[in-house]
Formats: sequence, C-alpha cells, structure tokens
Amino acid sequence: MHSETISQSINIVHPVTLSHGKNAEVWDTDGKRYIDFVGGIGVLNLGHCHPRIVEAIREQATRLTHYAFNAAPHMPYIELMDRLSAFIPVDYPVSGMLTNSGAEAAENALKIVRGATGRSAVIAFDGAFHGRTLATLNLNGKVAPYKQKVGVLPGPVFHLPYPSKDNGVTCADALKAMERLFSVEIDVDDVACFIVEPVQGEAGFLAMDVEFAQKLRTFCDDKGIVLIADEIQSGFGRTGQRFAFSRLGIEPDLILLGKSIAGGVPLGAVVGRKSLLDNLPKGGLGGTYSGNPIACAAALATLDEMSDANLHAWGTQQEEAIVGRHATWRTNNLTPYLGRLTGAGAMRGIELINANGTPASAQLTQLLALARDAGLLLMPSGKSRHIIRLLAPLTIEAKVLEEGLDILEECLAKLS
Ligand SMILES: Cc1ncc(COP(=O)(O)O)c(C=O)c1O
Repeated sequence: MHSETISQSINIVHPVTLSHGKNAEVWDTDGKRYIDFVGGIGVLNLGHCHPRIVEAIREQATRLTHYAFNAAPHMPYIELMDRLSAFIPVDYPVSGMLTNSGAEAAENALKIVRGATGRSAVIAFDGAFHGRTLATLNLNGKVAPYKQKVGVLPGPVFHLPYPSKDNGVTCADALKAMERLFSVEIDVDDVACFIVEPVQGEAGFLAMDVEFAQKLRTFCDDKGIVLIADEIQSGFGRTGQRFAFSRLGIEPDLILLGKSIAGGVPLGAVVGRKSLLDNLPKGGLGGTYSGNPIACAAALATLDEMSDANLHAWGTQQEEAIVGRHATWRTNNLTPYLGRLTGAGAMRGIELINANGTPASAQLTQLLALARDAGLLLMPSGKSRHIIRLLAPLTIEAKVLEEGLDILEECLAKLS
C-alpha cells in the first residue's frame, strides 16, 4: 500500500520506491539494484537518462522552458514536426499535432476523424488498450478494471476479435465478425474509423495478422473509413523498425505516438494525412502544455539516436536473445508453466499456462515477486495477467540483457 496522500485506485505492480536509473538498470531508495525489463512501460526504449536526451533537456531548459504553442509558436515544436514527418515511413505528406500523452493523442484522433468524415462510429478490437480518459476507455477491449464503476461511456464504439497467431483468432474469424457487425449492429456508412494496435500491448504482445491488416486497408479505402494505427507502445523501434505497421505492409491514415517518443518526458502526437488534419475549426486542436519545448527537445534527441541501423541492431540483439532463450527453456522443460512466445521483432511476451491450457495467472504473480527479489523488474499483461511483456530498453548492454534473462530463467525454474 502506498501513502494515504495518494489515491488507492492507482495499482502498483512493484512496491519499491525508485531513486535513480542508468540505461537498463534502476536503484531503489535502499540502494538495491534492479535490471529493468519494464522501461517505464515502454517509454524508455533509449534507457534511463540517455546522455544525449539529458543534455538536450538541460540545454532547452536554459533557453525556453515553456510556451503554449497556440499562444505563440516556438522552434522545438516546428523542428520536431518536420523531423517526425520525415521519420514516419509512409508515401504521403505527413502533418500532425502534439499532445501530452498517448490517451490525449487517441482522444484528438477521435475528434479529427469526426471532423474529416462527418461520421462518429469507431471500430476497435478485443483486448485493445488506448488509454484511461473517458472517451479512450470505451475503445479498450477489456472491461476490468478500466471500465468498471464509471457508468455509460462515450460512443458509439464496437469491437471485433483481434486476429493474431498469438491468440488463435484467424483472419477468417475476424472477417466473419466484421460481416456480422455491419449487418446487425451498425451501418458501415456511419463508421468514421478503425483503430488498431499493429502489435497489441496490454493484451500480451499479440501481433496482428498480416492478411487481415491488408484486407482491412482495402476495406477502409473502399468505404471512406479512416484507418488509425496506435503505435504508442509498438513504435520507436520496439519491434526493431521505426513502427510496427511496416511489418503489415500497409500505410495507416493516422498514427498515434507516445511513450518512447521523448525518452521519458511526457509527449504524444497524432500524425497522418494532411487532408484529415485540417478540418476542425481554428482552436479545435491544441492545449497548454502539448508540445512543450523541453519535451520536443527530448524527442529531437531521441530521433537523432534512432537511425534505421541502430534500430535494426538493437532489435536483432533483443529478439535473438529472447527467442533463443525461450527455445532453450522449452527444449529443457524449464517449467511446466512455459507457454507461447508472443509478439514480433523485439516486442515479445512470454505466456504462462497451466497443464490444461488455462492462464497461469497465480504463477505470474509469483514470478513478479521472485524476480523482483532477485533484482529484475518485470511487467504483466494479458486479459488474465498471465503474459510477461518484455520491455527492456533497446540500448541495454548485451551483458545486462543476459544477466536479466539468467534471473528470469532461475525464477521460472522455481515456479510452483
Ligand atoms: C497502445 C497504447 N495506446 C495508448 C496508451 C495510453 O497512453 P498514455 O498512458 O500515455 O495515456 C497506451 C499506454 O499504455 C498504450 O499502450
């Protein structure tokens, strides 16, 4: 339990109090060291206190700490949007706006698609996570705990099964559900957008079926529906490339950014087709802090580090290490609870299951505590909280990555 001065409705995964961090290691206030496979939940792809980002923050803080961009523009915002538009791997000219968080990016995207299409219905996916604000709550494909006790949520939102090799839902299953949706629930001409995570995060790192994604792209083109990719967790190198949508062979119309965009300083963005972004009245988009100069400076330093060569090297290092370990653990029957390796590239989840195939949620809880005691921080995911999501910084030193995987191995072997 944390201090009574803090709401008890915030759930704490690890009851430790952190003091400082360096790349993939953090220390608590008692001086205990942990290897960090959580990375602030996918925020620290470049690790804790990356020197280049720290320097950019320091430099910007001496120059201009804040100005509301909609009161008077400043260079860090302008430069970042220029750099981002070149960094997004799509063929069309990119425009966009900055936000304070991922949820705020999703909220703004909902407004943008309403303004652009004159329609309001949204199709999201089972297991999805897009935020904790009132409108994003309803996009989430999971009720407990997010949608509990908050009453009726803003809509209209409908959900489809998320097709993936990682959950057994096929492309045909999802297409069938889509056919039913448009024959039973909602007129397709009322649909403003589909919102997809190319690799679902909260659901346990499930990679979207490529055939479905391509069929969905064609469907949206035919029906004048906007396709939004939420890359808040899967973007900025997590899958070993700039964004996870590239592995689906599609170009989304809008892309939501957040988390690792700015090395730990709060920032989000909605970017995409210029024709979609200019339809709300002047003043319809903006915000006091969104695109704060310090956050923009941190993001510019992040982009400096994220060359394709770096992303490829980091992604390969982490993917090979995790895939290799998982295969060895399977061969050696390390634990009867070891299930599938989910995800794509370096965005991997390890499922824990019981002998009868049901989720081994109790064992995951046990694993979190064992690993923490042994000096490794892990993050749970999945509807039944039975999938470990591995979110170590991409810049983790090979030695520290191996040390973390050694601890994970020892703790998996101890599960009862
Ligand atoms: C895919 C995805 N979308 C949106 C969000 C919400 O971002 P934020 O917590 O910055 O509001 C998250 C956060 O976990 C996420 O993983």
